[in-house]
Amino acid sequence: DFIREIKGLSFIEDTIKSGLGFKKVIVVPGNADEDKDVIKEMGRAGALYVKGIIKDNDIIAVTGGTSVNELVKGMPQGMNKSNLLVVPARGGMGRLVEIQASTLAQRLAEKLGAGYKLLHVPDVMSKATFETIINEPSIKDIIESIQNANLLIHGIGRTDEMAKRRGLSDKEFEELTEKGAVGEAFGYYFDKDGNIVGKASTIGLNFENVKNIDNIVAIAGGSGKAIAISAAKSFNKNCILVTDEGAAKEIVKLI
Ligand code: G3H
Repeated sequence: DFIREIKGLSFIEDTIKSGLGFKKVIVVPGNADEDKDVIKEMGRAGALYVKGIIKDNDIIAVTGGTSVNELVKGMPQGMNKSNLLVVPARGGMGRLVEIQASTLAQRLAEKLGAGYKLLHVPDVMSKATFETIINEPSIKDIIESIQNANLLIHGIGRTDEMAKRRGLSDKEFEELTEKGAVGEAFGYYFDKDGNIVGKASTIGLNFENVKNIDNIVAIAGGSGKAIAISAAKSFNKNCILVTDEGAAKEIVKLI
């Protein structure tokens, strides 16, 4: 439309799409770091896109975070598809219950009239507990669903913010920083070139699964997240980015 033309958003979308290897890039006007309404716009744009690609029998995995939360909020009630299942992408990673993956999975399922499964595991586990837990039949069942997800909706965070939110120790944060971690998505930390340099200790979707998913929708905006977004760039040909003008203009400079 008119505003997008004037702001050159389509051109920016194309530049990021080819520069970072996304299947599609959607840029909404404004900067979420300066205007709280922009994240809602991103959420609505993301929801609209997701609604358009959901098919019968899909397993939809979601991460936590404020951006995915807005996508869920922006999703209209009701979906004419059968046998949908929504699952959290990973176990708890120490964040506010309000924006935890399990909470968002449940809310999205309610919106879509889908089934859901939750993954109740502690954030931090000893190796022995971990081994016991992953062999529990109920946990095995949900992990199998998660690993069969064909649509992933995830946020992207800055390493410093995620370290705070997840309560990483100074030592853990320093180690990540030394390895060059600048961005995080679905529990993996990436350096500025997109290499994985760290991983949150929780169970669920792993990077091998992610590489094979049919559709991956990343939602993240605000100029301060540009470096994180370009770090967690498209890792397979099926990635779609929903972002804002604030982040997009900075991402273009990094390409
Ligand atoms: O994993 C990264 C986070 O999902 C980003 O969270 O959307 O609240 O910034 P956010």
